[in-house]
Amino acid sequence: MFLFLVVALQTALRKVGDCVIRRCDESDLAAVIDINMVALPEHYSDYFFESIHRELPEAFIVAELDGKVVGYIMCKIEFGFSNFRKLGFVKKGHVVSVAVLEEHRGKGLGKALMLEGINGVMHKKSDEIYLEVRVSNTGAIKMYERLAFEIKSRLRSYYRDGEDAYLMALELS
Ligand SMILES: CC(C)(COP(=O)(O)OP(=O)(O)OC[C@H]1O[C@@H](n2cnc3c(N)ncnc32)[C@H](O)[C@@H]1OP(=O)(O)O)[C@@H](O)C(=O)NCCC(=O)NCCS
Repeated sequence: MFLFLVVALQTALRKVGDCVIRRCDESDLAAVIDINMVALPEHYSDYFFESIHRELPEAFIVAELDGKVVGYIMCKIEFGFSNFRKLGFVKKGHVVSVAVLEEHRGKGLGKALMLEGINGVMHKKSDEIYLEVRVSNTGAIKMYERLAFEIKSRLRSYYRDGEDAYLMALELS
């Protein structure tokens, strides 16, 4: 029974070359936290990663290559005003964090993680998905645009260092 559960948790959602895109297991969280530390200036407590994983495992996805986690995406579900419909109150997926180790970028892993994160929030019947991105992060903005995300607003001094963010969103329903 235990073996069956482990195999089920490690099931590939998709493959990109030799890399497996699959749901994050609790035992992957340490590697995810390490990637977050080196890839992004926004860091969180271990408890935060654990709680996001507990709340929405369907949209907490990792990329694994040769037994090593090399990328991740984690998302939340929220309720709030629509980024598309005036005064509409909707269920929204929120991409909290996504990153790929530098040496593995440019091979389609970020896009594959995003697609499975989107699938995860769609599984929860979300109407939209949104994220914040630094206005200077042109690579990530390009990736989101390729996935049909639109810039909906500019959030002034959103980051601790004073940089603005774009709020980007994609309608799912
Ligand atoms: C953003 C990030 C996750 C992209 O991961 P990746 O594995 O390199 O992305 P992919 O190879 O899947 O590229 C996806 C698409 O985005 C485009 N893209 C990605 N990085 C790009 C860059 N630096 N410049 C231009 N386009 C880029 C690609 O051209 C590709 O488009 P295509 O599908 O038409 O070929 C990665 O650069 C990263 O981890 N950056 C640091 C962390 C970060 O900034 N996270 C986002 C915070 S909001």
